[in-house]
Amino acid sequence: MASLTFDFSGKAVFVAGGTSGINLGVAKRFAEAGAKLAVMSRSQEKVDAAVAELSGLGAEAVGYAADVRHFGAVSSAFNSAKEAFGAIDVVVSGAAGNFPAFAKGISSNGFRSVLEIDTLGTFHVMRAAFDVITKPGGALINISAPQAVQPMQMQAHVCAAKAGVDKITEVLALEWGPYGVRVNSISPGPIRNTEGMDRLAPTDDLKDLIRRTVPLERFGDAEEIGNAALFLASPAAAYITGVVLPVDGGWSLSGAGVATEKMISAFRGD
Ligand code: COA
Ligand code: NAP
Repeated sequence: MASLTFDFSGKAVFVAGGTSGINLGVAKRFAEAGAKLAVMSRSQEKVDAAVAELSGLGAEAVGYAADVRHFGAVSSAFNSAKEAFGAIDVVVSGAAGNFPAFAKGISSNGFRSVLEIDTLGTFHVMRAAFDVITKPGGALINISAPQAVQPMQMQAHVCAAKAGVDKITEVLALEWGPYGVRVNSISPGPIRNTEGMDRLAPTDDLKDLIRRTVPLERFGDAEEIGNAALFLASPAAAYITGVVLPVDGGWSLSGAGVATEKMISAFRGD
């Protein structure tokens, strides 16, 4: 794949949920573009591994174990990153939880858990980020999902949670535009080798079904979400705020709805 040349030398980037999958892929693209990286997630082991991987790419990297459901922990991580790096220039917020379950099989606590990680967690990250982000010039990017706009069976909790994430993006773009802070979102399509896709399509057959519903007829790579994040955070996107950018091979045009019809058969064992 042709590489994009964005220069983030000297810039500080904080990735919430940045220790695996898509978000780590995003962090790695910023590291390759010269940025200093802070990553945060619950597991200290995953944090340590991600910091080692980012350092291996030549980046100055720090990490914090914190749960996005707890504002104090999130805020403390941002303050530590500011002490390490000075002002934070870019924040990517991608911590999320998902499991496939029909609504009648989701308990109150199960629904609440996903809402608290995705929606409340996004608010916590954005709220803490605002205090330390470069003003003017900072860029905030939320990681959404097709479920925010496409109703999907077995995803009532995630559809509700990610729709909330998109509204947070839009409202904060309105409120923080006057500070020179842009707030955008990326909605990834099906991305290969990720926890999210392994949970929703646990078998090769299901993955192939999904692949065939993507207009570009392939899964995306975390690196491609990283490329979109580099663009949205860069001066090339200086007049873009409040958008939810699908990076999905065209999946949101029709495929997301088609695929779930087959997926529910597989989960039911039809
Ligand atoms: N079907 C139905 N309910 C489920 C479930 C499933 N497959 N998996 C978990 N739950 C329910 C649990 O039963 C529990 O509800 P209960 O207390 O009424 O029994 C509730 O969800 C919380 O589960 P718990 O494991 O205690 O929560 P947690 O905070 O430790 O984990 C999750 C949150 C459930 C979202 C967990 O899957 C997670 O940590 N996910 C992060 C990784 C991930 O999802 N990656 C993909 C991102 S797209
Ligand atoms: P993933 O590897 O499980 O990424 C989730 C990350 O969030 C992990 O680093 C996890 O680390 C962290 N996290 C989870 N709960 C957290 C919490 N309460 N507090 C702090 N950190 C938490 O899954 P992924 O599939 O790459 O998904 C990444 C993002 O992309 C998510 O926002 C997802 O909705 C979105 N997305 C994914 C796909 C896909 O194809 N996979 C498609 C569309 C959208 P810890 O376990 O250490 O906390």
